[in-house]
Amino acid sequence: MKIVFLGPPGAGKGTQAAYIAEAAKIPTISTGAMLREAIANKTELGMTAEGYIKQGALVPDEVVIGIVRDRLVMADCADGYILDGFPRTVEQAKALDAMLPNAIDVALSLEVPDENIIARLTGRRECPTCKATFHVTNNPSKTGDTCDKCGAALVQRADDSEETIKNRMKVYHEQTEPIKDYYKAAGKLTCVDGVGAVSDITKALFKALGL
Ligand code: AP5
Repeated sequence: MKIVFLGPPGAGKGTQAAYIAEAAKIPTISTGAMLREAIANKTELGMTAEGYIKQGALVPDEVVIGIVRDRLVMADCADGYILDGFPRTVEQAKALDAMLPNAIDVALSLEVPDENIIARLTGRRECPTCKATFHVTNNPSKTGDTCDKCGAALVQRADDSEETIKNRMKVYHEQTEPIKDYYKAAGKLTCVDGVGAVSDITKALFKALGL
């Protein structure tokens, strides 16, 4: 199963992708996570990406398209994948279609209104080691400040400040939301309500995917 996971920043894509990946036995490819790892490792890619991410702007298409192209040829993608955070512009969507025949089966859009986003993202905590995601009130870890899965101390993402979140939402509406029309025209768009309990949303996504 080849899935593109769409939705605004903080919609719950990363949270839900973990459950879908486990059930469908396919990898999640998160361009945001790949870029953050490159920043942490101070690679050339990371140095290019850092300024854009700090401002909540998009990293240039050609940079992101290149890293996805290199990732999709890896052996673990043979039976499918979840693309989380890519494509993010219509140009990236067209590049994905040009990269592979039948590059996607379904574009899943997790629908969450703007008013829910700030609270979700300012309260998000992430494990720097295994990348598990929590929320201080909506989805807390058992101890509150360490990861349930690997025990590492949880951190707040550098781009989860209120000012940067507002810019990410603006960028989403201007540059990423038009992708929904692109996939709708291709008959591949499925929208799922992303407001409610995490477990209820997982059930709705599994149903939409036939899992
Ligand atoms: P990226 O890492 O892709 O960030 P994003 O799209 O902004 O999405 P998030 O990771 O913030 O949110 P999410 O939907 O995964 O939500 P989560 O599950 O964590 O990109 C970061 C940056 O990298 C971009 O701004 C850009 O600069 C760059 N970039 C990446 N890809 C790019 C590309 N293709 N092109 C160009 N630039 C690119 O959930 C959020 C919080 O809510 C968590 O705390 C969670 O516990 C909580 N939560 C989850 N579900 C619920 C629920 N149902 N109810 C209440 N709380 C919930």
